[in-house]
Amino acid sequence: MKNLKSLLMSLLAVAVLALTACTGPEGPAGKDGTNGTSGKDGAAGTAGCITCHGNEDVDMKIGQYEMSMHGEGAVWIEEAGRAACGACHQGAGFAEAVALGTLDPKSSITGPIDCKTCHTIHTKYDNTDFALRLTSAIQLRENDANPAEKVDFKGAGNTCARCHQARIINRNNAAGFDTISGTTGYTRLGPHYGMAANIVTWKGIQEFGAALPEQINPHASISCVTCHMGLDTANLASGGHTFKMTTASLANMIAKNIKDGKNTGCVCHNDPVALAKGTLGKAVAADIALIRAKLIEKNFLYIPDPTGLTTAQIILGEYIKVPDGKKFAMPKDDASMVMDYQFVSKDRSNGAHNPKMVPALVAKLKTALGI
Ligand code: HEC
Ligand code: HEC
Ligand code: HEC
Ligand code: HEC
Ligand code: HEC
Repeated sequence: MKNLKSLLMSLLAVAVLALTACTGPEGPAGKDGTNGTSGKDGAAGTAGCITCHGNEDVDMKIGQYEMSMHGEGAVWIEEAGRAACGACHQGAGFAEAVALGTLDPKSSITGPIDCKTCHTIHTKYDNTDFALRLTSAIQLRENDANPAEKVDFKGAGNTCARCHQARIINRNNAAGFDTISGTTGYTRLGPHYGMAANIVTWKGIQEFGAALPEQINPHASISCVTCHMGLDTANLASGGHTFKMTTASLANMIAKNIKDGKNTGCVCHNDPVALAKGTLGKAVAADIALIRAKLIEKNFLYIPDPTGLTTAQIILGEYIKVPDGKKFAMPKDDASMVMDYQFVSKDRSNGAHNPKMVPALVAKLKTALGI
């Protein structure tokens, strides 16, 4: 045992000596090695940026967007900071509500409707940033027959329909009457302003009397985007990112498709000259004007002061009148009649959104009002 201990001690002494030897002065430096191969060039600081900034196609869309009312201040400044309005009036509010999967945003987030509202701009800094935030089916706010139903506006059209739809219409349930209240000259009971999505699908319309038999809308199978963002090469101030559309421009688009032998979507309109005349739209517009005059005569319709307003703004601002600003009971059919007028007039497509049901409802209103 003693021998083993002294053996270990001497081994340890040798190890310590060996370690001390390594700390001696350095020898001369060796020759330099050969250079390694160069790495790949890095991306220039702005390469991702010029995919879009300075790109002619994107610039054209920015130019078209300047013509659209979407980016104008009025739609968001007036409703700034109001979460209940933000999903449709604030660009960032729309993006937030879509991300949350809720009808309205949580925050009172404020900003105009811009490229980032609909597209995921500045996420990956490449072309995938033009993906739309919303392409899946949506639930309509006002769809009393089937509130949970998911309605598909053909992919991209869901982006439009999420904003262009009626707000919830809260009618009270007193038998036969709506209690109309208001300290102002009108009540906001009604479909809000633009309700193309309801007209296209014929959902949530507050029809007076017995409902009209529903006829299939041939335009329900066409996306909002196909018509409103189509390309009329004769008029770049319609379609594309202006989002504006007229019957005349649709006729130009169809004429070009026929010339190119690909008028597959609009086979009912094989005569673009006839379509350009807009016969249906003119007749519907004339009838709506007669209905309006009759509703004014019956003291049912509140008309905003027209000073400084465009015709579209006057129509948008029309509501059920509250005589003397006092609460009153309005027969449900009368209230529905005014709302039916609101649906067909504030939609402003004069039948293009639903060429069967809009003229049918207009005819029904005319008969009921003795026109
Ligand atoms: C996928 C396309 C795309 C790419 C890539 C892109 N941008 Fe943009 N950027 C846009 C669009 C669209 C706007 C909004 C233009 C408008 O509304 O006039 C914008 C706006 C801007 C603005 C104005 C402020 C703002 O946020 O609205 C700045 C600054 C900007 N970009 C910088 C950059 C830089 C720097 C890069 C590269 C690192 C870049 N962008 C890459 C599309 C892009
Ligand atoms: C479901 C989406 C939606 C919600 C929520 C919404 N709006 Fe709107 N609103 C619209 C659309 C779409 C238009 C434009 C319709 C058109 O031009 O056809 C509009 C138009 C208006 C206009 C008329 C603008 C004009 O040019 O005359 C006013 C005022 C308005 N909204 C106020 C409000 C207020 C206040 C709230 C919240 C209490 C609100 N809106 C909530 C979709 C919405
Ligand atoms: C109201 C929503 C909305 C706004 C705001 C909007 N876009 Fe779009 N954009 C769309 C839709 C919808 C499409 C798809 C059109 C289609 O399917 O034909 C689209 C398509 C595009 C495309 C083609 C993408 C592709 O994959 O081919 C580009 C580029 C584009 N937008 C750029 C812009 C720019 C730049 C702005 C801002 C000036 C802008 N958009 C604002 C809705 C919008
Ligand atoms: C974030 C909500 C929102 C989305 C998304 C949206 N809109 Fe609008 N849109 C509005 C509001 C609000 C107005 C009213 C602007 C005003 O009158 O100041 C409007 C106005 C319009 C107008 C009439 C005003 C004009 O510029 O002449 C058309 C047409 C229109 N939208 C079509 C579309 C189409 C098509 C889409 C889908 C590609 C779409 N909108 C997507 C909110 C939206
Ligand atoms: C079949 C083609 C077509 C489809 C599909 C369509 N629209 Fe239209 N839309 C039109 C035409 C045509 C007008 C009338 C324009 C005119 O008379 O100047 C119009 C009018 C409008 C207006 C009023 C514009 C103004 O300047 O007064 C809005 C807002 C609108 N459409 C939104 C939509 C939305 C949202 C959808 C989808 C839910 C949709 N449209 C689907 C063709 C279409």
